[in-house]
Amino acid sequence: MSNDFFRLENVAAGYGDIQVLWDITIDVEPNEIVCMVGSNGAGKSTTLKLISGLLKPWSGRVIIGGEEVVYATPDQILAKGVGQVPEGRRLFNGMSVKNNLLMGAYLRKDKEVDKDLEFVYGLFPILKERRKQDAKTLSGGEQQMCAIGRGIMSRPKLLLIDELSLGLAPLVVEQLTETLKEINKTGISILLVEQDVMTAFELANRGFVLESGRVFLKGPTRLLADNPTVREAYMGI
Ligand SMILES: Nc1ncnc2c1ncn2[C@@H]1O[C@H](COP(=O)(O)OP(=O)(O)OP(=O)(O)O)[C@@H](O)[C@H]1O
Ligand SMILES: [Mg+2]
Repeated sequence: MSNDFFRLENVAAGYGDIQVLWDITIDVEPNEIVCMVGSNGAGKSTTLKLISGLLKPWSGRVIIGGEEVVYATPDQILAKGVGQVPEGRRLFNGMSVKNNLLMGAYLRKDKEVDKDLEFVYGLFPILKERRKQDAKTLSGGEQQMCAIGRGIMSRPKLLLIDELSLGLAPLVVEQLTETLKEINKTGISILLVEQDVMTAFELANRGFVLESGRVFLKGPTRLLADNPTVREAYMGI
């Protein structure tokens, strides 16, 4: 059965005339956490750009909430419920933590933005303490919290996270992992790109392994974790 909540279907894409993705088919079901792992340059961030509308596929289909979105702009895709935590966090420097969080809600016209801000502060109390501080002065872990908080301020149905753990201490990653599980329980699906396969498999119930721009393996993470190729190539076991 095909899943209409979110899927990429047989997508090819690239930059200029250089192809970097071939025949990518991935899906996320409502309330699910799915991970995408693979070596540097495998095409993980490029795949996320196709979902958020920053890059257009050469062929294939992108389905969000039962609709084709190949011709949608990034703002239209955000409005359809796809939030983002980009690679490198991309906070707005020179802007306070609070205003960074509010940027996540810039398309919203409802009156519950303040309530959601409190929700984010509840998830990450340190952000409340630091709310008036310039985002560039946050520690790496706090910056990632702020990027996740900004991502959920759009009230997404699906949250894309590119490189959750990069450059962060194991303890911080563990905290973020627990918070993401909480966020997921509020009904937000997550598509997580992660270099650290252990962390990815801990969080996600299904995974896709990308290699050289193709889906090389997929399945429940408990099975992927037992796969000898995955263990050797990505888990160093
Ligand atoms: N803006 C761009 N212009 C041209 N080529 C690009 C661009 N962005 C990425 N690429 C190329 O596309 C390929 C896939 O890159 P991508 O960033 O998707 O990989 P990735 O799996 O996210 O890698 P990493 O784990 O290092 O973040 C790489 O060969 C990269 O050089
Ligand atoms: Mg990347």
